[in-house]
Amino acid sequence: MKLYLDTANVAEIRELAWLVDGVTTNPSLVAREGRPFRDVLREICAIVKGPVSAEVISLDRDGMVREARELAAVAANVVVKIPMTEAGMQAVQVLSRDGITTNVTLVFSANQALLAAKCGATYVSPFVGRIDDAGGDGMAVVNEILTVYGQYEFRTEVIVASVRHPGHVLQAALLGAPIATVPYDVLKKLFGHPLTDAGIARFLRDWQQVPSA
Ligand code: E4P
Repeated sequence: MKLYLDTANVAEIRELAWLVDGVTTNPSLVAREGRPFRDVLREICAIVKGPVSAEVISLDRDGMVREARELAAVAANVVVKIPMTEAGMQAVQVLSRDGITTNVTLVFSANQALLAAKCGATYVSPFVGRIDDAGGDGMAVVNEILTVYGQYEFRTEVIVASVRHPGHVLQAALLGAPIATVPYDVLKKLFGHPLTDAGIARFLRDWQQVPSA
């Protein structure tokens, strides 16, 4: 299973670059950094060898395709994030024929994911946290998408997105999702367990009883 970092913060990416397989950004995450988008994207792509998702802002097909080509020119590992709309899927179809990798974002149903795959999306990002927030079951949607993709052997890869807590990562792993994109604070929590801390403390305490040579 691949883990991506869901952030546009360069310090966070530098710290965890040894671990993560890629990075996803979105307009809200970029806005938090208070820096020009292309500068941030260039810097992230230099740190991370794996895929780095960067989102278009246009809502019409031609605007999205134009922006996507500009973003793809920033670095070889840029993946262009396209919103799940009818125009967005037209753009994905054009970009896929051009060999530009895409990540269809803001996916909330298996039918949306089906259309994204049919249009040639490289990745699809179901937002599990936002589905849960709206009273739905985000992981059930991921399960449906994985089932549909498996049935038709679509090559589109599922990125479990909008991850809110370690339980989401575990559930994604149990479902066999190929990728989860995880915020910095959630990823840091995956390392920890109270019994690990207690175990280290006890070992260090006991070690003081070992006679020195
Ligand atoms: C995914 O690519 C998005 O950047 C992200 O996971 C959205 O998460 P949020 O719902 O916490 O904003």
